[in-house]
Amino acid sequence: MPADRAGRTWWRDGVLYQIYPRSFMDTNGDGVGDLRGITQRLDHLQWLGVEGIWLDPIMVSPNDDWGYDVADYVEVDPSFGTLADADTLIEEASKRGIRVILDLVPNHTSDRHPWFLDAKSARDARHRDWYVWADPKADGSVPNNWGMAFDPRRPAWTFDEASGQYYLNQFLPSQPDLNWWNEEVRDAFDAILRFWFDRGIAGFRIDVCHSVIKDRELRDNPPATPEDHWYVRMMGQRSVYNACRPEVHDVLRRWRKIAESYDPPRVLIGETYVLEPEAFATFYGAGDELNLAFNFMLIHSQFRAAELRDAIQHAEELLPSDAWPVWTGGNHDNHRFPTRWCKNDPARTRAALVMLMGLRGTPFLYYGDEIGMVDTDVPADRILDPVGVFHGARMGRDDERTPMHWSAVAGAGFSEPAVEPWLPYGDYGAYNVADQRHDPDSVLALTRDLIGLRDAMPELRNGSYRTVPGPSDDVWVWRRGERTVVACNLSEHVVEVAGVGPGAIRISTIRARADERVDGALHLAPWEAAIVWRD
Ligand code: NOJ
Repeated sequence: MPADRAGRTWWRDGVLYQIYPRSFMDTNGDGVGDLRGITQRLDHLQWLGVEGIWLDPIMVSPNDDWGYDVADYVEVDPSFGTLADADTLIEEASKRGIRVILDLVPNHTSDRHPWFLDAKSARDARHRDWYVWADPKADGSVPNNWGMAFDPRRPAWTFDEASGQYYLNQFLPSQPDLNWWNEEVRDAFDAILRFWFDRGIAGFRIDVCHSVIKDRELRDNPPATPEDHWYVRMMGQRSVYNACRPEVHDVLRRWRKIAESYDPPRVLIGETYVLEPEAFATFYGAGDELNLAFNFMLIHSQFRAAELRDAIQHAEELLPSDAWPVWTGGNHDNHRFPTRWCKNDPARTRAALVMLMGLRGTPFLYYGDEIGMVDTDVPADRILDPVGVFHGARMGRDDERTPMHWSAVAGAGFSEPAVEPWLPYGDYGAYNVADQRHDPDSVLALTRDLIGLRDAMPELRNGSYRTVPGPSDDVWVWRRGERTVVACNLSEHVVEVAGVGPGAIRISTIRARADERVDGALHLAPWEAAIVWRD
């Protein structure tokens, strides 16, 4: 693993990048991205300046939930390549100063994992207690009121005729939940962590890590109330007993100990889908749990200055002082931010990128963000995501998972021209890496320069965050450290931000303004965002 430059910690100071492996680069012409493809594209990532990549699951999976249903945790899925390909990727990434983070799915396995096949074979099977089994209620109905995350209308329980018990599945019936009260499950995952850490990965992104432990008595969740977050209201219940249990912190501390036993220490990044900010803040522990915890309040905010500002402000107030935030505009579960937030308008996308890079915390880009890639409308007959199957294409997650646009040629530089990719291509003529590399005014050039600026300006990386009053609720202005000001005009109007200068613009979404003096107020064009360095 590459050494950190003096005074830097890669996962705090660097910009990280999420790769959806099926869609990054296909080298064997089967329409599915693979590990060799990622290795082949490392030069792009190095040129961009990212210091770490997180790969969505690459372990063996029947793909009912596209890798999030694992059938073997210590083997690479053949569609992606082999363990040797993973080793090569880790080694080649390291040569370029890039660390590799894998996705760990500890909450559930595939129903085709040998543990579950055994568990299901008999009530007294060796692995029976590795999963969450419960008897039906007296009337034969499900053990409690928990709903399936993918479709709250359905119970999170599946009846096993042979043994007369239900098993818990918070996601699909083919994703049975593991029983994290069982010490052998914990031991098995210790070994999985070590297996990959020993191969040289830099850490794990941990899937639904807030939810691995469930209430021992499997009590009913209380109903949602009108004051709850819209997601909780959609679920119809508060996840009091199936998530955020106090005992989950023991598991996180156990993993952190393992991660810290390595040199350099490995990093734990949690998918903490916790919508109550107070509960969310506990996942950093006393510096002994997660290194980074994804905060979904930003993703769930509208692209309105006041709303975004309040989400950040709230997190800044609640996080323990030594906890380091991590921010992202999107991922494989959410529509791409250039579409969701920015309505496919490049000016807004540019402002969003300045915003993400200007916050205190590690920015995570989702593949394609660097070129402002928008969602692809995947037609109904090509839906592959189970959420899309339940709720229709636009509610599903295929639109944000389509192949990367490397160039304008047929096949988008992703696969051979004649090959039909696993999900359809988007408009690669409009957005692609090759064209944007020749254009100094492109979104790609802006993204790269923002990453470079973070590297060059210690205050932009480490400076404290302080909201500064703006001229209206459409303008979000904040200070980083003593001398850095970030101002985002999220409106159609020209605005004047008082008291920014004296100083100079270091970068603006309007590139020609770089180095322009700001002597008092900063004037911003519609949807312009800028970073100013005060004298
Ligand atoms: C969260 C993952 O990000 C998502 O893609 C997956 O479907 C669920 N967890 C279940 O593993």
